[in-house]
Amino acid sequence: MKLVLLGPPGAGKGTQSVVLSKKYSLPHISTGDILREAVKGGLPLGLKARSYMEKGELVPDEIVTGIVADRLKKPDTKEGFILDGFPRTLKQAQDLDSALKAMSFGIDMVLYFATSPAVAIERLSGRRVCKNCGFNYHIKNIPPKKEGVCDKCGGVLFQRPDDKEDTVKNRLKVYEDQTKPLIDYYINEGILKRVSGDMGVDELFKVLSKVFADAKLA
Ligand code: AP5
Ligand code: MG
Repeated sequence: MKLVLLGPPGAGKGTQSVVLSKKYSLPHISTGDILREAVKGGLPLGLKARSYMEKGELVPDEIVTGIVADRLKKPDTKEGFILDGFPRTLKQAQDLDSALKAMSFGIDMVLYFATSPAVAIERLSGRRVCKNCGFNYHIKNIPPKKEGVCDKCGGVLFQRPDDKEDTVKNRLKVYEDQTKPLIDYYINEGILKRVSGDMGVDELFKVLSKVFADAKLA
């Protein structure tokens, strides 16, 4: 199963990737996570990406495409993968197609999480992330058992700097301008499947499992 998860910030791409990755034993490749790790570790990649991420702008295509091309060369992607948050521009989509073609495979399905802006904003403003293991919570929808503390590892929860109101507004605008055109791109390729991102986590997971079964992907 070679999947791309497409949708606005807050659509639930990361949350569903975690459960899908576990159920179908697929590597979860999130460009946002890779970039955040690089920023945290003070790596040269992080130094280049940081200012874009803080403003909610996209990191330049050549940087992100390079990361994904390298990651896809690892042997664990042979049976499939989940790309979360990539591609995000037409150039990235075209470069991904070329890279996969050179490896003699293509994307099986692009899952488009259609999500209303009000839902996305509510989710992003309430998101809290574990500083230690990176697990995502939501203060109302997916709260930790103990406020401010990760259930899984006891780490401290914090708010992503780009989840502050002004940056969220810009991220949604950037999505509209630069990423939304990918919907038509993948409709034309005949591989786009639209699902509602406004559903709860478990409900959406059930819908996705059925989509894969109907498409005979799983
Ligand atoms: P990235 O990390 O990809 O952020 P994003 O796309 O803005 O997506 P989010 O992680 O905010 O949303 P999500 O859909 O994953 O939602 P989640 O499941 O977390 O990118 C960050 C930055 O990195 C970009 O701005 C850019 O600078 C750079 N970047 C990354 N990729 C790039 C690329 N390809 N090109 C260029 N630059 C790139 O859920 C959100 C919240 O809602 C959580 O609190 C969660 O608990 C909750 N929640 C999730 N699902 C549900 C549900 N179904 N019901 C209720 N609550 C839910
Ligand atoms: Mg995410």
